[in-house]
Amino acid sequence: MRILVLGSGAREHAIIAALLAEGGHDITAAPGNAGIKRDVETVRLDIKSPQLVTELATEGGFDLVVIGPEAPLVAGVADALQKAGVPVFGPTQAAARIEGSKSFAKEVMARAGVPTGIDTTATTMDEVRAALDASKPPFVLKADGLAAGKGVIVTADREAAEAHAEAFLPDGPLLIEEYLAGPEVSLFVLTDGESVVPLAPAQDYKRLGDGDAGPNTGGMGAYSPLPWLAERFGSEQAFVDEVVESVAKPTIRAMAEAGTPFAGLLYCGLIVTKSGVKVIEFNARFGDPETQVVLPRIESGLADALLAAANGTLGTAAPLVWRDSAAVTVVLASEGYPAEPVTGRLIAGVDAAAAVDGVQVLHAATGEGEQGLTATGGRVLNVVGTGATLAQARERAYEALGKIELLGGQARTDIAAGA
Ligand code: AMP
Ligand code: GLY
Repeated sequence: MRILVLGSGAREHAIIAALLAEGGHDITAAPGNAGIKRDVETVRLDIKSPQLVTELATEGGFDLVVIGPEAPLVAGVADALQKAGVPVFGPTQAAARIEGSKSFAKEVMARAGVPTGIDTTATTMDEVRAALDASKPPFVLKADGLAAGKGVIVTADREAAEAHAEAFLPDGPLLIEEYLAGPEVSLFVLTDGESVVPLAPAQDYKRLGDGDAGPNTGGMGAYSPLPWLAERFGSEQAFVDEVVESVAKPTIRAMAEAGTPFAGLLYCGLIVTKSGVKVIEFNARFGDPETQVVLPRIESGLADALLAAANGTLGTAAPLVWRDSAAVTVVLASEGYPAEPVTGRLIAGVDAAAAVDGVQVLHAATGEGEQGLTATGGRVLNVVGTGATLAQARERAYEALGKIELLGGQARTDIAAGA
């Protein structure tokens, strides 16, 4: 299959690596990064432009376009590709609102009867204060629109909660949500708007530091499978089945009924509370860094499943074949991340790291400088270890990470340790 992958992070590198491992595909990435460029052809392109993407896709004769990040979805790139008759994995602009607007997502969940935290919408500081008065700490406040991961605050500090509200209210309404206690799980579901195919659950580490200390980040690591889910639900499959029935299917149905069918990947962000599994967010795309640990566990069928989701034939597509393996990814971030990442520094040791058995080094923000590979952003690399067990995958990931040098680089040392 001739496949165009849009995006430039480790998530897109993971999608490309999985498709390459499957074999038989001709892949181009736009715009990609230095690591992706070592693996496939890359094209410089403003991927938020529906027109430019459609031109590239039609002129290049691609059989499938896979949209990685949310920005092109929200910009209507999938709509333009659909109109031009190019199969696209990723929802329309209207359907992507399930990620782009938290209040829209809440409306869909209410219509679909999907379990989620109770929330209030506030449009003024008076309404925010009243909502905070009515709830008890920790407070959860969410900006309605896309805010590059900075729109959500979870804090016991009333002043910090109000300051967050002051900062984000000018951009639109805020949601004040009930705090949900319990471990988080990300479950990805492929869908063509009707049929759903769940992938394996994964857990993401959002905080910068060991033991979940420090600020929220885009994600500092992840692992899959989640053995503790099997303990709690009897089997991981039982958990997946429950989420498919209580969350994914009703949501997909509600989206279709509203005239905004959702095709692509529905990312269910979940908290396993004492009173059941509840949704804290939906995303309209593969999660980052969870994708880096979910896709290496698929042995075959990925490209066919993505194409079937794009073409509305997922119900009759061949099932994905999974490996009985585990994967752990550790993110290497720049000094100063997430507030003010220092960029431009040289990275050494990537080849030695990638030579460790069962390890893949996926690039998130890298460039090819005169003296070699450099860091160009906050999250720089993902070191992914795979193995027969989580312990082995974890050991391999950390062994490989130890071979990489980046001045001031930050990485957590406890990814998958508790699991
Ligand atoms: P989001 O941007 O919606 O993924 O939220 C960012 C992070 O805030 C999540 O990964 C959770 O750790 C946390 N969070 C969001 N909503 C809640 C909630 N209702 N209760 C507890 N934690 C939450
Ligand atoms: N891992 C969180 C996200 O992709 O939004």
